[in-house]
Amino acid sequence: MKVFALAASMRKDSVNRRLLGVATDMARAAGAEIDAAEFRGFAMPLYDGDLEAASGVPAAARALGERIAASDAWILASPEYNWSIPGTLKNAIDWLSRIRPVPLDGKSVLLLSASPGLGGGFRGLTALRAPLEGLGCWCYPRQFALPRAPRAWGDDGALKDSALADSLATMVGDYLSAARALAAR
Ligand code: FNR
Repeated sequence: MKVFALAASMRKDSVNRRLLGVATDMARAAGAEIDAAEFRGFAMPLYDGDLEAASGVPAAARALGERIAASDAWILASPEYNWSIPGTLKNAIDWLSRIRPVPLDGKSVLLLSASPGLGGGFRGLTALRAPLEGLGCWCYPRQFALPRAPRAWGDDGALKDSALADSLATMVGDYLSAARALAAR
């Protein structure tokens, strides 16, 4: 099964990309093939109805939609910005919603976040569910928010807290089972 992996951060030292890497290693160990993408590779203009009328959906948004559509499952790690979704990610979702058929419709996603704060970014994930579900995407009910993220890793690159790592591995495995069933229907 092919899993599309995306961290919605462009930062070189992104903690969300790092968490995504841990989750994709777990998915690989569970037998998944990973299609890893860099958010920076999908740079697109701000949504503008006049631009859309003149030249359609930008190539970067189409390319993102094709990668999602070509996968059986999706793991998305997103920072929380001001208790909500990063504007860059919401903008990408808005452009994706203008593609027909909508590439998110009927897809599934596991949501992760990492933050230096104590909440781990869970409020951002709660906000992220609304547009994704509005577009027909099935968000796995459980989500993983990593608090104090810059200090969460050991020298070996693994999560220091083995109980947290175990709960992430269980979540990834359970999500992949559910996504497999959804993709096969
Ligand atoms: C943040 N950050 C943040 N963190 C958090 O837990 N709750 C929040 O509401 C916010 N708000 C926020 C707004 C903006 C504009 C920025 C730039 C940052 C901090 C954020 O979690 C931190 O910068 C992470 O390191 C961002 O994730 P990446 O880029 O490291 O993956």
